[in-house]
Amino acid sequence: NKGKYEHYMQKEIHEQPESLTTTMRGRLIRGGSCKAKSVLLGGLKDHLKTIRRSRRIVFIGCGTSYNAALASRPILEELSGIPVTMEIASDLLDRQGPIYREDTAVFVSQSGETADTLNALEYALENGALCVGITNTVGSAIARNTHCGVHINAGAEIGVASTKAYTSQIVVMAMLALAIGGDSITSEERREAVIDGLFDLPSKVKEVLKLDQEMKDLAKLLMAEQSLLVFGRGYNYATALEGALKVKEVALMHSEGILAGEMKHGPLALVDETLPIFVIATRDACFSKQQSVIQQLHARKGRLIVMCTKGDAASVSVGGSCRVIEVPQAADCLQPVVNIVPLQLLAYHLTVLRGHNVDQPRNLAKSVTTQ
Ligand code: UD1
Ligand code: BG6
Repeated sequence: NKGKYEHYMQKEIHEQPESLTTTMRGRLIRGGSCKAKSVLLGGLKDHLKTIRRSRRIVFIGCGTSYNAALASRPILEELSGIPVTMEIASDLLDRQGPIYREDTAVFVSQSGETADTLNALEYALENGALCVGITNTVGSAIARNTHCGVHINAGAEIGVASTKAYTSQIVVMAMLALAIGGDSITSEERREAVIDGLFDLPSKVKEVLKLDQEMKDLAKLLMAEQSLLVFGRGYNYATALEGALKVKEVALMHSEGILAGEMKHGPLALVDETLPIFVIATRDACFSKQQSVIQQLHARKGRLIVMCTKGDAASVSVGGSCRVIEVPQAADCLQPVVNIVPLQLLAYHLTVLRGHNVDQPRNLAKSVTTQ
């Protein structure tokens, strides 16, 4: 039931304040006079000791689920102190990459049925790793065959392009980082700040959804373009990849997410007065580096659209020349949840304006159960 919405994708984008609340329900502990705030993931509590002892955490997934894992990687590395590596499921299988008994392999999948991810799970089980599932579908193959895991509880997702599952996956993986790091006294203050950030997140997402009309106006401006580049780094490298994936898969417009730190190693050659470039430059430890990226793109006459933190327009728009999208500030590691929303809206409006099928893009399936 689409309710008041025209498409499932639109409905699912707009219901994110509620889906995120459901994802967190019963899992955040407010703490008390002498008790610290904490996270309780029922499906993992008996396995945390084993996970903390692992030599490596390997994230495995496809498409949007891979991007969600990438967005969560920095906070998991920070709070766990364990090396975290990333694997696209098909690539791990193509290489028959090393997976060891001392590894924790985390399988991220909305449907829980993606063939490549399932095959990678079988492979990791054979190699003796502890296998953890993060899925939206109770009773799915990944939920059944992993040793333990977490249901993201985002509610059924109908649109082929994943939106609300993406933000709920990031929240679950941030909670995973908090749970794994939960025994460290040195990071307690940081963990409490992230937990406060989680409590605040649904209201920030509600606020950023107010950009709907602004993103529709931007879509009108961009609808006839051939291509859109999206630059991000740090916590928001994943936002660049996922924003570009949304534009590509539903609006059928070429789009590429680019790690801003790699700008000088190729992408800069593409910059001219015509190609639109979306730069994510919200406040975090990488902000000044992103400001310098904007300056360098501007110096080459790049057509820039900059996403920045509310109040920062003047600090990112060189000579007042870029189009600026201002978003509310969240905890740094949760900012990807806020930042993806305008890009989801942009992809949605571009698709409608270009006259394509929003909920069932050409040639794609919600769940890819064949190799
Ligand atoms: C569980 C209940 C929830 C109830 C809550 C009350 C289910 C599905 N969930 O939620 O309805 O409100 O207790 O305390 O009955 N698992 C995997 N692989 C996965 C995902 C999950 O093995 O990919 C396992 C978990 O390890 C766990 C079980 O499935 O044993 C349920 O996981 P989850 O729903 O996340 O647990 P709770 O949040 O505790
Ligand atoms: C398909 C979907 O390609 O599979 C994407 O169209 C999704 O939206 C990808 O990200 C992975 O799916 P899942 O269910 O494993 O998260």
